[in-house]
Amino acid sequence: MNPLPHVWEFNASDLLLHNTPDDYWVVLDGKVYDVTLFLDLHPAGRNIIIDNGPDITRGFLGIGHPERAYDYLSDLVLGDLKEDPVQEPTTAHRYNLLYWATLGLLLGLFAYHCATS
Ligand code: HEM
Repeated sequence: MNPLPHVWEFNASDLLLHNTPDDYWVVLDGKVYDVTLFLDLHPAGRNIIIDNGPDITRGFLGIGHPERAYDYLSDLVLGDLKEDPVQEPTTAHRYNLLYWATLGLLLGLFAYHCATS
């Protein structure tokens, strides 16, 4: 008897690791899709998907895509999303990253200065 096929599960932080135009995952109705290769095939262009991501549920359903779009989806699916909803990166989060990146750079420069003087 064959075991049931394994269903991969992902969480919001997995999505944030695949959040560039060269490696782009989205969520649609609780399922995770790798749309990297599809972006350039999308009839309405790649940007509209990225602008509506990573959780494209509202955008995708709002347009009322025809059956043809769902055929693509079955080729792109990776698995299920474990946590809901996906956390969009907030402005505060972005500033936080900028803060730590700047602090890291300054400390690096300071360490270099101490080591070379
Ligand atoms: C992986 C996700 C998506 C797939 C597989 C997909 C697929 C498709 C397909 C096959 C069409 C052509 C439909 C036709 O034959 O009439 C289409 C059109 C369109 N899609 Fe998507 N789509 C996706 C995501 C999105 C998202 C997130 C948006 C944002 C709102 C969007 C907006 C549109 C629009 C506006 C059109 C109409 C283009 C036109 O007729 O000129 N799509 N999509």
